[in-house]
Parts: sequence; structure tokens; C-alpha cells
Amino acid sequence: MADMKKKTYTMTVFGCQMNERDAETLRGFLDEIGYEEVDEVEGADLVIMNTCAVRQKAEEKVFGRIGRLGVLKKENPEMMIAVCGCMVQQEDVAKKIKKSYPFVDLIFGTHNIAAFPELLQRAAESKETVLDLWDEAGDVVEGLPVTRKDGVKAWVNITYGCNNFCSYCIVPYVRGRERSRKPEEIINEIKALAKQGFKEVTLLGQNVNSYGKDLEEEMDFADLLVRVDRETDINRIRFMTSHPRDFTEKLAKVMGECDSVCEHVHLPIQAGSNRILKLMNRGYTKEHYLDLVDILRKYAPDCALSTDIIVGFPGETEEDFLDTLDVVDRVGYDMAFTFLYSPRSGTPAADMPHQVANEVKKERFQRLLEVQNKHSLRHNQEAVGKTVEVLVEGPSKTDPGVMTGRTRSSKTVNFTGENVNAGDLVMVEITQARTWSLLGRKSVENRNTNDSSVSGD
Ligand code: SAH
Ligand code: SF4
Ligand code: F3S
Repeated sequence: MADMKKKTYTMTVFGCQMNERDAETLRGFLDEIGYEEVDEVEGADLVIMNTCAVRQKAEEKVFGRIGRLGVLKKENPEMMIAVCGCMVQQEDVAKKIKKSYPFVDLIFGTHNIAAFPELLQRAAESKETVLDLWDEAGDVVEGLPVTRKDGVKAWVNITYGCNNFCSYCIVPYVRGRERSRKPEEIINEIKALAKQGFKEVTLLGQNVNSYGKDLEEEMDFADLLVRVDRETDINRIRFMTSHPRDFTEKLAKVMGECDSVCEHVHLPIQAGSNRILKLMNRGYTKEHYLDLVDILRKYAPDCALSTDIIVGFPGETEEDFLDTLDVVDRVGYDMAFTFLYSPRSGTPAADMPHQVANEVKKERFQRLLEVQNKHSLRHNQEAVGKTVEVLVEGPSKTDPGVMTGRTRSSKTVNFTGENVNAGDLVMVEITQARTWSLLGRKSVENRNTNDSSVSGD
């Protein structure tokens, strides 16, 4: 009789939500072929790394891990190793891995995920590394399998690729040109998710605000949000990332009007100096950005704002950096993701003069963090005493007696209370603020909604 034991795999995902979403498709394929996911690398039949190329650190982590896997593979030669994603979509990197780590079985890029089962089969039959990269993305492929682990929140692609070519960024080179999914496909996916019990979707694109520009029908991102709000039963809609260049007043209006659209926008500024913004090819000025924030707050006054900031872009002077701090103070972000500029080979910024010394980058980074932390804490303190809706994710990782979830404004809340389960939308009274999170307790206001042990009116 054939051995009925399922084959096992383990997967590590680096980088952004796009990669997380692609990993869900890979999991879907592996489910179909009959693999089971395990946590431990030891003993796994297949190890997959879905890689990121956005900063050098991300790439170094992958090289380190591949090296360690080589040691394991000596003990267990049957173990297959696959490397995919943005990093290996760079042909030179893929070739380097093939040459320096010949024990890797399979290397494939971001454009040929749909061919994964075939590639895996080929790699199993081949003694040499199977390397398969496509130069360009084909049309959007619908109907690929997907396995989502979490039954509460789901990522939903709305566009793939990027046309913006910010001068520091590798993404357009490894993800191809921008392609929008058809609205019907998106709506049907979200309808199905709501039916399965999901409460929240995050619409994903490198620049969601340019959604629809390549579609035949007249449709922009604001129209899409209205349709998802009206036509599906999903409780919460989020989206990322919103590029300031294409952010419209119409979108701000829609955010204020659509009940299921959450009160949070991630609007990366990257830098506060107009000179640096121009060198970055971002397509807006500091003043334009600040106007957008005003417009947003006019239509959606409760909207939380977060951002991405790069410190130490080539040529950044102390004065330029002060412009960044100025924007951070003027906007008063709820949260900021801050990065040291990392030169990416093949991007224009990597060859720009006046690269900033590491010590200078780090010193500015620290100052930026201090300024931002004050704003984060202030926003969180303002929430104390309020009662807010929290979508429960489950018990806290550090304290199983405490539940964790997020507010509509995307703040993490750790709270206590009876009869709370993952996927519940509960009202929580905020009792304490930290810089990165809120503490609270389940409110008595839940009487008529979630707590079935108390009878309603
Ligand atoms: N499409 C999104 C960003 C995707 S990459 C947008 O335009 O906002 C996520 C973040 O990584 C960027 O916002 C930027 O802040 C940062 N990043 C990208 N390339 C980088 C580089 N070469 N060095 C440092 N940070 C970088
Ligand atoms: Fe990169 Fe700019 Fe595209 Fe964002 S918009 S992915 S930063 S090129
Ligand atoms: Fe994302 Fe990294 Fe690729 S940020 S798109 S996984 S380069």
C-alpha cells in the first residue's frame, strides 16, 4: 500500500502584504497537491522562502537563511528548497543563488506563480536547480487557489505592479507594470469572504489610488470603494497603499461617507523637502501633501493617518531633514514606518551623488523616531476614556489572559473581558495608552450585541 503520510512544507514570507497574499496562493496550491504546513524546518519535505528586495537587510536575511538550509540539506538530502518572490525576480540575484547555492532546487519569480505546481514537479525530477523567471507579467490571472489561515481579516489584491518608479524603489522592476483587477472579480471575492465569516478586507495595491486607469470601463478607486461598501456585507474595508500623487478629494469624500470604510489612511510622505521629493520622483510637494491632509480631515475628521518615511536619501542635508520633521509635527501622524535609505542596484538613486553616511542616517533616524513617538503617544492618550469598536484577533501572544484586536483607526488594543472570541466585533473601553498600543476592558455597552449571557431589552 502507498504511504498515506502527507508531505510537509514550511514557508517564510519576507516583505509586504503583496508577498503575504502571494504566499496564500502558494499555500492554496500546496493544499491542492496534498501538502501540509508545519512550523519546523527540520524534517519538512519542502522549504519555501518568499523573498523581498526592498532594502538590503531583507536580502541579507534570505542569503543567511539559504546558507543555514544548506547545512540541513546535507543531513536530509531529500528536502527540497524553493526560493521565490521579489528578490529572485532580479535576474542577477537569481543567477547568483543558483551558482553559489547549487543545492537550491527551485527559483521562480513574481510573474509565474500560477505555474508553481508544474515548477515544483520539474524541480523534483531534476538534479539541477530549476530557474524560471518571466521578464514581464502576463494578464491578471483569476481563480488561483488561496488558503487563508486567519478567518477574520483577508488581503484582497486590486492592482498588481507599479508604474511610479520612485527613484529609490526596486518594486516596479520586480513587480512589473500596473494591472487592475476587474471590479466584479474583486466584489465577488469579498462577497464570498463575508459569507465565510471574514469581517475585514484590506484592498492591496502599490498605489491603490490609480486603480482602474487601465480598465476599459470608467472607474476609479473611489468608485470601487463605494461599490464594495454597497454591494458586500463585509464589516470593515481598509486599503493600502495610498499614493499622495493620485489621492483625490472624491476619495476623501467617499471615506467620510461609506460606513464600512475604516477611519485610517496610510499616506506615505517619504520626505518633507521639496528638493528631495523631486529627486525621489514622488510627483508632489510638501505643500500639496499638507493640503491633502486638510481635505481628508475636512471630510473624515476622525481619520487616523500613518506614513512611511525614508531617512538619508542621497543628497539629504540637515535642512532637508528638518523639513521632514516639520511635516511630521504639522500632520501629527498616528503612526510612522521609518526606514534608512538603502541603495538598490538598478534604481536611479543608487547612482546619485552625495550618498549620506551611515552615522548621519542613523542619527537622523533616532531624532525622527523621538518626534514621532511623542505624536503616537499623544494620539493614544486621547483615546483613553473612550469606548471603541475592536475587531478581535485572538489571545495576546505575550499574555493569553488578554485578548488583542484593532480599532477601526488601526490601533492595537489589548483588553480583558469574558466571552470574547476571534472575529467578534466588541466595544472596548480604553483605560490606558502606550506608545504603540492601547489597553482596555470590554465595555458594558456590549450587552445587547455580543454577550448572550445577558438578556436584551
Ligand atoms: N507602494 C508603496 C510603498 C511600498 S515599499 C508606496 O509608494 O507608498 C514600502 C516602503 O519601503 C516605502 O514606502 C518606502 O518608505 C520604503 N522603501 C522603499 N524603497 C526603499 C529603499 N531603497 N530604502 C529605504 N526604504 C525604502
Ligand atoms: Fe515603490 Fe514608489 Fe511604486 Fe511605492 S509607488 S512601490 S515607493 S515605486
Ligand atoms: Fe513587497 Fe518587498 Fe516585493 S516590499 S513588493 S515584497 S520588494
